[in-house]
Amino acid sequence: MTTAEQAPGPAADPGDASRLEVGDVVSVGGLSHRRVLALAAAAAPGSDDPVDQLMIAALREDHPTIPVPTVDPADVDPARADRRYSLVRVRQLQVTGGSTRDIVVMRGDLDAVMGASRASRENRSLLRKNARHGLEHGWRALVIAAAPVAEDGTVGDFVLQGFVKLRHFSGEEHDATSEDSYTRVDVWSASLRAQHWLNVSLIVVLSLTGYYIMDPFFGPTPGSAGRTGYLMGYVRFIHFVAGFAWLLVGATRIVSAFTSPDRYLRWPTLWPLKSKKDVRNLGRVVKHYVFLRDEGPLYVAHNPLQQLAYSSIYVVGVLQMLVGLSLYALYKQSSPFWQVVATPVQWIGIGPMRLVHTMLMFALWSFAIGHIYLAVRADSLDRHGGVSSMINGGVWLRRGSKPVDSPKVG
Ligand code: HEM
Repeated sequence: MTTAEQAPGPAADPGDASRLEVGDVVSVGGLSHRRVLALAAAAAPGSDDPVDQLMIAALREDHPTIPVPTVDPADVDPARADRRYSLVRVRQLQVTGGSTRDIVVMRGDLDAVMGASRASRENRSLLRKNARHGLEHGWRALVIAAAPVAEDGTVGDFVLQGFVKLRHFSGEEHDATSEDSYTRVDVWSASLRAQHWLNVSLIVVLSLTGYYIMDPFFGPTPGSAGRTGYLMGYVRFIHFVAGFAWLLVGATRIVSAFTSPDRYLRWPTLWPLKSKKDVRNLGRVVKHYVFLRDEGPLYVAHNPLQQLAYSSIYVVGVLQMLVGLSLYALYKQSSPFWQVVATPVQWIGIGPMRLVHTMLMFALWSFAIGHIYLAVRADSLDRHGGVSSMINGGVWLRRGSKPVDSPKVG
């Protein structure tokens, strides 16, 4: 008899074990993770089923002290089209305490195994939650249940034990360029990328010139002997031109956030507290970032923590523009329009206003440092091409993954 069982989804590709990889083991029935993996590896010797081969290899590699359960080929009842799980009888399985017993292992599709086995409500929900989370990242769950066999050969109730994660894999580990297991998804429009790099260039120019206005650390000073030249005048002129250009870029971005047909340009992509699910996912991202969770929820665009960071930086940016504009208005006090624009400076004073303008500059710098670090970190860990996506517009996602903010990736 052969194990014709197929793991659900892309894992089901007989004859090519190199296309599958094993991920975490999730245990809900009280067994240790390695025991769950051992049950998943129960197969007839020499089985040519890729899932059998993979489970046995994973057990041998990760837990060499745990013996692979030996199974008589006659004791394997493969999965069928109308029953998406296999049944394998393991005789004389070593259990805790040194004794042995016969059991039957059920292995297969999430819904099928859950439907045919017993588990508390909490365990079912734990299993579903973990399986769903894995699905977002392209993992499939190979679910395991086990039943004891009595002396007279009667098979008892199946109890849900957990699952092993499986997914498509080919080539080098984390080979993000392999089109077999990854696919490119276009996310960022050309207009957004142009705005991003215009922002970067203008913020650099505004920071350099602004810093010089604050502290003219080179060139002539009023204390210099002779003519002081017009350097500060040129620097301020560049600052104002760049400032107004930045206002223009900001205005086009705000318009596109409310009018663009592109979902990744619209304001909801930047606002993380739209629903309970968003808030839950925000917590999951934070746990992932502080190393309390292996994987965070998968987003094609920004995850909720990025959304929060970006909406804050938009607020800082708009504030900086308004403060700059208000300071600029001081030079135009003959016009009623500019008199109104300068009102905040009249309220808090020129000195404090310039201080606020400078503090906001440092806030922008702090954001830029964190932003670059997190972008490079995410790209290195996820291998999704996030950094280059701001140039070419696309990210790489695993086939079969189900991001929170887009349809399933084919
Ligand atoms: C990234 C954005 C910006 C940064 C980092 C920045 C930075 C600075 C800094 C550090 C100063 C010197 C403050 C001081 O007197 O100690 C300054 C001055 C000034 N900025 Fe900006 N600024 C930015 C955007 C703008 C914008 C959008 C405008 C308005 C269009 C603007 C208008 C001004 C004006 C009018 C002054 C005062 C110049 C003077 O009194 O000589 N700034 N800026």
